[in-house]
Amino acid sequence: MRKPVIAGNWKMYKTLGEAKEFALQLKELQVDSTKVDAVICAPALFLDQLVQATKGSFISIGAQTMHEEKEGAFTGEVSGHQLKDLGVDYVVIGHSERRQYFNETDESVNKKVKSAFENSLTPIICVGETLEQREQNETETIVSNQVMAAIEGLTEEQLIQSIIAYEPIWAIGTGKTATADDANDVCQAIRETILDGFGEEVASKVRIQYGGSVKPENIEELLSKEHIDGALVGGASLQADSFVKLLEAGA
Ligand code: G3H
Repeated sequence: MRKPVIAGNWKMYKTLGEAKEFALQLKELQVDSTKVDAVICAPALFLDQLVQATKGSFISIGAQTMHEEKEGAFTGEVSGHQLKDLGVDYVVIGHSERRQYFNETDESVNKKVKSAFENSLTPIICVGETLEQREQNETETIVSNQVMAAIEGLTEEQLIQSIIAYEPIWAIGTGKTATADDANDVCQAIRETILDGFGEEVASKVRIQYGGSVKPENIEELLSKEHIDGALVGGASLQADSFVKLLEAGA
């Protein structure tokens, strides 16, 4: 059995005060961490304080991106080495917004994934197709190619620890969710891609999330599907009560 992982991606939302308030609200709640992994991926400038505020709780903290180099003259960037030093445990890599607006490529995603492992960070590797690609029936080919490129050169152990997030771009922030069956089909295709490259044991252990307009009203159906092991959630992770409902559905 794969343990579900529910990750909130706050994107560029919240002030520090709001982030702390959220952490305080969550700390008062009980979620069975043996049944679900809970992660908040916050803006880089809050990570330090959120790590401190959630210490000893069921919440882990993640970053939304990282640079693949340990250090250097890369103005504005944050490295995996720096994230680990803060006590961050997860990092989102290759989110479609990073690919679209910040020129991230399959190649840079692969470098970042490898660097995440060098720094003992768990990568949440994002893949997903555009609406046009879906309409051309290219979804599974596009997504499988993205997955293969992202995991190239990983060891079996690293791949088992990786989290893959399938996020159809047309479903992000639009209120349009893929049907649970469609999302499951693509997650299954991802698992089969891993199976072809790494075999049954590895493929059966990798956790695959769905992301794209996930909310308390649709998460149960999504999580009931065989190949969906959690969710990467934007909008519905911004309020503590809604995030907790998502966690409860996963537990
Ligand atoms: O990383 C999260 C996704 O981009 C989904 O965002 O839940 O607001 O659609 P959303």
